[in-house]
Amino acid sequence: MKLNTKNVVMGLIAPVALLGMLVSNPALAREPYDKAELADMQKQLLESVNQGYELWHGSKATTTTLGLACGNCHPDAAGTNPQTFPKFQADLGKVAPLRDMINWCISVVQGGEALDIDGPDMIAMEAYAFNMHRGQKIELGLQTRQTPPDLVKDGRGYPWKGSGVGYDKGSKAYPVPGHHQK
Ligand code: HEC
Repeated sequence: MKLNTKNVVMGLIAPVALLGMLVSNPALAREPYDKAELADMQKQLLESVNQGYELWHGSKATTTTLGLACGNCHPDAAGTNPQTFPKFQADLGKVAPLRDMINWCISVVQGGEALDIDGPDMIAMEAYAFNMHRGQKIELGLQTRQTPPDLVKDGRGYPWKGSGVGYDKGSKAYPVPGHHQK
């Protein structure tokens, strides 16, 4: 960038303007979140993860006409590789985010009705898949599947317990203790 008067003036104004925004906008400058607020945020996230767990196991009938749910082929979200998205998906013929592939499996593989791409159900599906891959290395755009889908059982969903196949290793199966540990 050429050093002209305009750039120098902008360089001086921008930080001052930013500081002004921080001070005048309560959303940007506020007290650190307290424990209760942080706990509430975490609770809301886990609620979404749990909603995703339900959907993963066929709680929404419109997402399948075959009697199969995600959990039958992707137990504990195995083989979905959320940490590798966005990436080129041959099935879609383009670089796609995870949610497009979720809807692809719903409509093509399960013969169901795709989810609203920005709706709370889709967000919950993503929350669940990412939560199960917590700690995995992000390998954006990885082209090949790292782990193939792994059919566990016919029928909707799979037994309501950790299968041991995915990243939860069947131990602390669900994020909210006591939830769905049937
Ligand atoms: C009948 C088995 C089956 C079911 C049920 C199923 N899938 Fe899949 N899924 C597959 C197969 C097979 C692929 C690989 C497709 C390919 O690579 O062309 C796949 C691929 C994916 C991928 C892309 C993974 C990657 O790294 O490319 C995602 C994400 C995914 N499925 C999510 C889901 C979700 C969410 C559901 C439930 C709504 C679901 N799948 C239901 C078999 C299934």
